[in-house]
Formats: sequence, C-alpha cells, structure tokens
Amino acid sequence: MVKTKIAVLVSGGGTNLQALLDAQARGDIRNGKITAVVSSTPGAFALERAKGANVPGHVVNRKDYDSRESFTEALLGKLSELNADLIVLAGFLYILSPAFVERYENRIINIHPALIPSFCGDGFYGLKVHEKALEYGVKLTGATVHFVSAEADAGPIILQKAVAIEEGDTAEILQKRVMEQAEWKLLPEAVSLFCQGRLHVEGRIVRIDQAE
Ligand code: GAR
Repeated sequence: MVKTKIAVLVSGGGTNLQALLDAQARGDIRNGKITAVVSSTPGAFALERAKGANVPGHVVNRKDYDSRESFTEALLGKLSELNADLIVLAGFLYILSPAFVERYENRIINIHPALIPSFCGDGFYGLKVHEKALEYGVKLTGATVHFVSAEADAGPIILQKAVAIEEGDTAEILQKRVMEQAEWKLLPEAVSLFCQGRLHVEGRIVRIDQAE
C-alpha cells in the first residue's frame, strides 16, 4: 500500500506536531508519512521541531496576503506542489476558505481543545477556549479531532476525549492537562486511522473500522 503523504499546518509552538512526529518515530502512524510542515508564521517554533525530525518546513506567511482568499489560494498552491494526501491542522490559527475545504473534502483533520459543539467556532483558539470553559463553569472539557468543513469547527467528529476540570484550574493549567490527557493522544490516533483507510464519513457521522 502506498503511504499517505501528510502535510501538517501550524502557526505556533507545535506541541501537537511534536506528538505526531513522536508517534511517527515510534511507528504509530501506520501507513502514513509526515512529508511537510507548513507554517503561517515565519518564527513558529513548530518549524524547529520539523527541522529536528528532518521534515521539510515551509512558510506561507499570512502577513504577505491581504485576504483570507488570497492566503488560502497560496496555501493551496503550496500543498498541491507538495502532493499532500492529508492535511492536518495542528494549532493552525486561520480558518480556511470554502474553496480550500472543497478541494480537500474529508481530507483535512483539525484538533480543537474542547468537546465540540461546546467552546468552538470563530474566535475560539488556544488559551481562549479554556478561559471560556472555566468562565462557564463546566466540570468536564476535553479535545475533539474532526474533519474540516466550510463552517468553523462544525465538520464530522472523528474522536473525542473528556478531561476533568479541577479546583483552582487556570486556563494555562487546564490547557496543559487537555493537551497531555487528550490532544497528544487523539491526534496521532486519528491520523493513523485515516492513513489506514479506516475512517468512513456518512453525513455527519464518522464510522471507524475495527482493527483486523
Ligand atoms: C492546541 O491546544 C490546539 O488544540 C489549539 O491550539 C493549540 C496549539 O498548540 N487549536 C485550536 O484552538 C484550534 N481552534 P500547539 O501549537 O502546541 O499544538
């Protein structure tokens, strides 16, 4: 079987990218290979992580484009040049244009640090998500891996994991717990399932084939 070529899109620190690179090093991304990391920010630490794992890093700088459309057009150009089969958004700050999503229908995976449909959508990114969960007073939050559709954080859900909120949590403490207990496990698992051809999208529902 030909390996799925994975391009990971990042904007920041890249701990989820690191989880993917570590999973790959352990042989846990079955039938897939991370062939490129594309950053929307030239200084993103995620690019250092890519370099450390000998994965080519690329920059499509959001600041070089005056609209979402022209930026995602440039990203599309880069990804087709890279021949990517699967796009993984790992802490990618920008919402992709409908044209982009259509081009890679059910081939873009995103990680979100909450239990969708809570605390998600436009403007819910990074620490902000955890601040909102704490403000609301929920007792459980978590992470969601989903396919990307035209509406932000509204595509078919692949995997979710709940994480408890504890007395005295700050957004930073909660973010770390959600990453450790949920995000860094769920994202490599979902990517590996995709690469093995075990995810089937039926409307909003993602059916997962059992391992043989
Ligand atoms: C992660 O918590 C990720 O789930 C979140 O940003 C963080 C990026 O950290 N993504 C979103 O909020 C998307 N709406 P990382 O760069 O260390 O992976």
